[in-house]
Amino acid sequence: MSSAVVEAPEAVASVTSVAPELQPTLLELVDLSLVAKQAHWNVSGELFKPLHLEFDEITEAARGWADDVAERLEAVGVAADGRATSVAGGSGLPAMPDGKLDGPVAARLVAGTMGEIAERVRGRIGRLGAVDPLSQDVLIEVGRGLEKQLWMLREQIP
Ligand SMILES: [Fe+2]
Repeated sequence: MSSAVVEAPEAVASVTSVAPELQPTLLELVDLSLVAKQAHWNVSGELFKPLHLEFDEITEAARGWADDVAERLEAVGVAADGRATSVAGGSGLPAMPDGKLDGPVAARLVAGTMGEIAERVRGRIGRLGAVDPLSQDVLIEVGRGLEKQLWMLREQIP
């Protein structure tokens, strides 16, 4: 009997059915980390301090979720793609405006991006249930974290 490593059939299935759910999530989460950092730097006005801090928390959280999703892709045998050109061309999320942002404007922009990603992630969670519960679990964690951060951000919007 050969000692060669043979890929399990379920791993092959994961490559074709899991990657289309995880890879777009990775692009969106990398984009969110950049959107939130841009807001962290450019927020201004009376809500500056709490929003400045909160946007940095969102950046850090998004980086962590992106890492979890990328490493799940690798675990099922797919090369994760988090390149800048892939994010810019593939996240499908609106670009942040240039320049300074008044606090409530910045909060609404970031909340809008987070809400859009959370909605997409919910759809993917539903589809992954029948395909790969382990990948589904990764996105459940991401979705729960996104919705928690979104709640905390929305509470800051006057
Ligand atoms: Fe900073």
